[in-house]
Amino acid sequence: MWRPISTLQLLLVVAAVAAPAIEEISTSISRNNRVSPKPPFSPLPDTSSRSKVCKVDSYGDGRDDSDHILAALKKCNNGGRAVFDKQYTIGTALNLQFLKHIDLDITGYIQFTNNTDYWINNAFQQVFQNATTFFELGGQDVNIYGDGTIDGNGQVWYDLYVENALLQRPVLMGITGLDGGTIGPVKLRNSPSWFHLVANSSNVLFDGLDISGKSTSVNPAKNTDGWDTYRSENIVIQNSVINNDDDCVSFKPNSTNILVQNLQCNGSHGISVGSLGQYIGETDIVENVLVYNISMFNASDGARIKVWPGISSELSADLQGGGGSGSVQNVTYDTMYVDNVDWAIELTQCYGQSNVTLCNEYPSNLTISDILFKNFTGVTATAEDPNIATLVCWDIYAENINVVSPIGTNDAVCENVEESLLQLNCT
Ligand SMILES: *[C@@H]1O[C@H](CO)[C@@H](O)[C@H](O)[C@H]1NC(C)=O
Ligand SMILES: *[C@@H]1O[C@H](CO)[C@@H](O)[C@H](O)[C@H]1NC(C)=O
Ligand SMILES: *[C@@H]1O[C@H](CO)[C@@H](O)[C@H](O)[C@H]1NC(C)=O
Ligand SMILES: *[C@@H]1O[C@H](CO)[C@@H](O)[C@H](O)[C@H]1NC(C)=O
Ligand SMILES: *[C@@H]1O[C@H](CO)[C@@H](O)[C@H](O)[C@H]1NC(C)=O
Ligand SMILES: *[C@@H]1O[C@H](CO)[C@@H](O)[C@H](O)[C@H]1NC(C)=O
Ligand SMILES: *[C@@H]1O[C@H](CO)[C@@H](O)[C@H](O)[C@H]1NC(C)=O
Ligand SMILES: *[C@@H]1O[C@H](CO)[C@@H](O)[C@H](O)[C@H]1NC(C)=O
Ligand SMILES: *[C@@H]1O[C@H](CO)[C@@H](O)[C@H](O)[C@H]1NC(C)=O
Ligand SMILES: *[C@@H]1O[C@H](CO)[C@@H](O)[C@H](O)[C@H]1NC(C)=O
Ligand SMILES: *[C@@H]1O[C@H](CO)[C@@H](O)[C@H](O)[C@H]1NC(C)=O
Repeated sequence: MWRPISTLQLLLVVAAVAAPAIEEISTSISRNNRVSPKPPFSPLPDTSSRSKVCKVDSYGDGRDDSDHILAALKKCNNGGRAVFDKQYTIGTALNLQFLKHIDLDITGYIQFTNNTDYWINNAFQQVFQNATTFFELGGQDVNIYGDGTIDGNGQVWYDLYVENALLQRPVLMGITGLDGGTIGPVKLRNSPSWFHLVANSSNVLFDGLDISGKSTSVNPAKNTDGWDTYRSENIVIQNSVINNDDDCVSFKPNSTNILVQNLQCNGSHGISVGSLGQYIGETDIVENVLVYNISMFNASDGARIKVWPGISSELSADLQGGGGSGSVQNVTYDTMYVDNVDWAIELTQCYGQSNVTLCNEYPSNLTISDILFKNFTGVTATAEDPNIATLVCWDIYAENINVVSPIGTNDAVCENVEESLLQLNCT
């Protein structure tokens, strides 16, 4: 005989069925569905579901939690979720390139020690631009989320850098050799140097990063790039807020198929291609980049392409190079709002050099082609009045650039460019 089921019974049945389902859905989200409004250059691989949970222990008193972290990551590797819900200290350089099908659920707070002597001797050497990293995270299908905080304890480094410009300050997030992954939402604070190095990696989505690096002394938080991509392809960076003191995003040698969208950058050096051509005998490629819907505040640049001249030289102890070759191809900056930005658009082939005569004598060995800037709006800063843009080289297109300087002009400095391709007021 049929009997009506009470609401409570119904809820219990639904809950019993739904509980495991929720667990599964929350860990098997399609990465592609998160990428919006522009799609990735190639589809991102889905993440597989996770079936075990490992809590990461903590001393909670400033002692090094590296062993706790390694133990949990090893235990939960291949299908688990490591939960960081406490306060952690990391005082050891960790090789995390063994990760596979694992989630790092960070709701707590992770801080690297300020033991500069240790890190100078033990951080991972990445060769390119003498970069080093606190850790190396690689492998396959790794997700980091939870909206917790990872803190690089940068102040001690900002202060030391003033005394030694060749000091190797570690990058906070060393993503090296990762195929498939989603990073974010997570808060990153006070990186000693770049916030992310994304090297030798592919199919990684950065979504919902809250980045801030600030010095509390008179010494600035130098070189705190948001992201540097290197030898990587099919990377997406989106929906993030960046407060820093160098490039917001930077496409270093061999960055291909990179989508950057919906960012708010403040205090930065813009979204930059390069620098490229720094090293003699190397071929640097940046190809297929789409930068869409960026708000750029209080910055030196909005959209920027920087390549070194065709001869090696030294401008300062930590700015030396030139003479390398390569190409920049198919790069689009679409929809950028600028507010108090020195150059809305800056294209230079005299990077790392102040001697213009030398740059004209030895032009860059890179070819730059198929570059489009479109739909720029806003007001620049007073620094370059009456100019809003500066460009060199050929095959650059600019359309619908509605940016004015604070005095209402829209002049552009154009050198060796095909002016008919530019809807700019070249003076
Ligand atoms: C480094 O950190 C320790 C422990 O948190 C603290 O006592 C010390 O003052 C810090 N040193 C510097 C130079 O910031
Ligand atoms: C990338 O991979 C190459 C070749 O395996 C290796 O030599 C290099 O050190 C790696 N670089 C980084 C930054 O991981
Ligand atoms: C970048 O790619 C070019 C072309 O494939 C290659 O010649 C060069 O060695 C690569 N550079 C690096 C740093 O991997
Ligand atoms: C542009 O990015 C902002 C965040 O910086 C976001 O609020 C807005 O919805 C984005 N617009 C489009 C068309 O995606
Ligand atoms: C934005 O950048 C300016 C200039 O660098 C800085 O003064 C300000 O504090 C930054 N805003 C935030 C929210 O960090
Ligand atoms: C050039 O970049 C655009 C995105 O801006 C992309 O749709 C197109 O496929 C790229 N072209 C090539 C030849 O890959
Ligand atoms: C830009 O800088 C000004 C002055 O420091 C500050 O008031 C403003 O909040 C900054 N803009 C953003 C988006 O942080
Ligand atoms: C990299 O480090 C080497 C060795 O310390 C040094 O000679 C070189 O000048 C550094 N290069 C840069 C660009 O900092
Ligand atoms: C141009 O950019 C502005 C914001 O910078 C945006 O509101 C507008 O929708 C964009 N227009 C087109 C045609 O993409
Ligand atoms: C600038 O470069 C030119 C050409 O290489 C050279 O003759 C000149 O001495 C340089 N000037 C300075 C100030 O170094
Ligand atoms: C770079 O260009 C200069 C001319 O500007 C040329 O003499 C030199 O051979 C080139 N170097 C390479 C590595 O292609």
